[in-house]
Amino acid sequence: MTNELSFTHEFIPGRSERTLLMLHGTGGDEHQLVPLGRELDQAAAILSPRGKVLEGGNPRFFRRLAEGVFDLEDLKVQTDALAEFVRNAARHYQLDLEQLVAVGYSNGANIAASILLRQPDLLRAAIMLRAMVPFMPDALPDLSGVVVWIAGGKQDMLIPRANTERLAEMLSEAGAEVTAQFFDAGHPLTNTELVLAKRWLDATALPPAA
Ligand code: MLT
Repeated sequence: MTNELSFTHEFIPGRSERTLLMLHGTGGDEHQLVPLGRELDQAAAILSPRGKVLEGGNPRFFRRLAEGVFDLEDLKVQTDALAEFVRNAARHYQLDLEQLVAVGYSNGANIAASILLRQPDLLRAAIMLRAMVPFMPDALPDLSGVVVWIAGGKQDMLIPRANTERLAEMLSEAGAEVTAQFFDAGHPLTNTELVLAKRWLDATALPPAA
């Protein structure tokens, strides 16, 4: 690993052009979502960083002040650092950024949303599992051409459905093509939604940038 790849990460080369950027939840690490990535796409490369912030020893992608209350300054810094890591990793591993799909769970989904809002040129597609509005942007970015699939749990005690719906609305107002679905589930993921996420991904051919 070179200095410029400043996140501890796992990288698995793929057999197709696509790369899945796997972003774990609180307490996960670079290994947590690799099996999920493989389940979603057997042929894609997998880039899976570990969040740099520790909360009681549990890795996260940014600091929070309380459950659902984010340290917005840290969120900004960590979002930019992660985006820079992804760009450097793409250069290092020769990945096509036009074929990059973020797959985030919980805290990882929230930083994926933050990347979309702060660095709208980086991601062309995202699967966000249990996501919420990470921060309120002063102005919406232009997300036209970006496709997003969001899955919420109807009984999720950590991430209220209304918050996920607000995120979906915000991203579609910004021009993204958003599909949001809610499942009979709590915070943990269910097999049904993973099957649907895979189906969505299979049907998503990323167009070349305009
Ligand atoms: C967050 O802190 O990003 C959300 O509350 C989800 C989580 O618990 O990680």
